[in-house]
Amino acid sequence: MKNHVLRPLWLVLAAIALLLAVRYLVVPSDFGVNGRSFTYGFHRLSNVADWQKFPDKYLGKEYCQDCHEEKVTENGSSKHRNIQCENCHGPAYGHPDNPEKLPIDRSRELCLRCHSQLPYPGSQRGQLKGIDPERHNPGQPCAECHNPHHPDQEVG
Ligand code: HEC
Ligand code: HEC
Ligand code: HEC
Ligand code: HEC
Repeated sequence: MKNHVLRPLWLVLAAIALLLAVRYLVVPSDFGVNGRSFTYGFHRLSNVADWQKFPDKYLGKEYCQDCHEEKVTENGSSKHRNIQCENCHGPAYGHPDNPEKLPIDRSRELCLRCHSQLPYPGSQRGQLKGIDPERHNPGQPCAECHNPHHPDQEVG
């Protein structure tokens, strides 16, 4: 065969060899068709175990029960019963060891996320009782007048 045919042939073969070598080094051995589903079959098998080990950051109200029973009871009998504690206090993962305390956010913004009146209510969010933050006691923290754990009750 002529040189001008052979040379590109060697090049192509070299490229394929390089590709296979890189694939051998880089792709984990348990990557492949693991299972029968077409969509989810092609994956790294140990990935499943990796995610099972991934800790939940949000633990839910039940977790607070033993140590903050009063707050859980109060919240549970109020209009905020469907709101998770961690929606306002952040994820409890590690608490009370690390962090020892969860943050307390007294800003108006915390509440306005859900209670700022929508001018064009077209969703269920629009059905929440809303206020106009510029007119409803501006500058004052909401929690001075509303109990965040039991908002349908007057603050004494
Ligand atoms: C094993 C007990 C325990 C559990 C479970 C627990 N906490 Fe706490 N929490 C504490 C302790 C202890 C403190 C620090 C002492 C204090 O201020 O009451 C604290 C502090 C806090 C604070 C700050 C109080 C302050 O005055 O600064 C908040 C907010 C809080 N926890 C919320 C939660 C929420 C929400 C959950 C559930 C997702 C939860 N905690 C679960 C024991 C616990
Ligand atoms: C709608 C937001 C919101 C939700 C939901 C909420 N909190 Fe709070 N929490 C606050 C705010 C705001 C304060 C500060 C209140 C203040 O300054 O009077 C606070 C204060 C606290 C404190 C410390 C001060 C105190 O009053 O003793 C603890 C502990 C606490 N919350 C626990 C909880 C737990 C447990 C839950 C769930 C059962 C929960 N919170 C649900 C907003 C919330
Ligand atoms: C994640 C969304 C959310 C956040 C954040 C939130 N709320 Fe609410 N709030 C609700 C829902 C849902 C209700 C119940 C609405 C209903 O039952 O009609 C409610 C009810 C209320 C009510 C009673 C209104 C009535 O019907 O009389 C008040 C007052 C209130 N919230 C104040 C606050 C304050 C103050 C904060 C901040 C500390 C806050 N909310 C944060 C969702 C939220
Ligand atoms: C100075 C006290 C005070 C402050 C601060 C305050 N409110 Fe109110 N809020 C009231 C009173 C009193 C009412 C009931 C009378 C009324 O509807 O105006 C009320 C009513 C509401 C209602 C029910 C509205 C309705 O249609 O029934 C919501 C929701 C509310 N406030 C949310 C908030 C939020 C969110 C903040 C902070 C951004 C806040 N409030 C700050 C005193 C206060």
